[in-house]
Amino acid sequence: MVIPNDAYGGTFRLFAKVVARWGVEWSVADTSDPAAVRAALTPKTKVVWVETPSNPLLGITDIAAVAQIARDAGARLVVDNTFATPYLQQPLALGADVVVHSLTKYMGGHSDVVGGALITSDADLGEELTFHQNAMGAVAGPFDAWLVLRGTKTLSVRMDRHSENAVKVADMLTRHARVTSVLYPGLPEHPGHEVAAKQMKSFGGMVSFRVEGGEEAAVEVCNRAKVFTLGESLGGVESLIEHPGRMTHASAAGSALEVPADLVRLSVGIENADDLLEDLQQALG
Ligand SMILES: Cc1ncc(COP(=O)(O)O)c(C=O)c1O
Repeated sequence: MVIPNDAYGGTFRLFAKVVARWGVEWSVADTSDPAAVRAALTPKTKVVWVETPSNPLLGITDIAAVAQIARDAGARLVVDNTFATPYLQQPLALGADVVVHSLTKYMGGHSDVVGGALITSDADLGEELTFHQNAMGAVAGPFDAWLVLRGTKTLSVRMDRHSENAVKVADMLTRHARVTSVLYPGLPEHPGHEVAAKQMKSFGGMVSFRVEGGEEAAVEVCNRAKVFTLGESLGGVESLIEHPGRMTHASAAGSALEVPADLVRLSVGIENADDLLEDLQQALG
């Protein structure tokens, strides 16, 4: 399989430390470059896995382009759509074979449930996935299923507000003297901006940025934030801040998916935007 050079640390851990033991070989590609995906394919490739926007560097993959490349090679395209949600982006309509969601995040929306979903429009594949789900026991309990179902009722309004607030946060950070770069696909200067504008309704609530002063400075910003709570998760109504290198992506250290030490990741919530901007400004000092 081909996996992206930027992805949730646990996804990388699953491929590198679990699936690899079953004899599945994987190679890493910068999936924001369709030519790099084509170059990473081998005659054995069965799956191309992408995350767009990606965690935590907010890279954008052109889903339609990569779907075509995978199809031509007889491989299936899997898209982790957790950051975007089905409200902002529909990978199946763009040619993907399977969509993956962490339901724990925006779909649930309130940081009170853990779950995941696989979605496909291929009936045979769907049946096979259901067989494995039943055989392996990854079945949601009724209360968890109900919490996710309730979350979907407010998904659209939450995502609109997450995106609106994230645009304001990203804009403020681009003008802050201590911030060396802002990673947000809604910014016109983001290398994936045009593709994101084509395939997403708006740009979502995740924003990452790099801080002057390296790892210690990044950790200090996380610790000083007050409205943004320090936390590994994302996608809830409340704003969270974290240091990917030490937290969510610690398992990718030393690999092609290692993240910069001066990186801070924000899950921008639906609070009053002025409170969020003020909090980040005081945290940056
Ligand atoms: C993009 C992405 N996919 C999958 C997951 C895994 O989700 P869960 O924590 O629900 O297992 C995460 C978690 O952070 C994620 O960010």
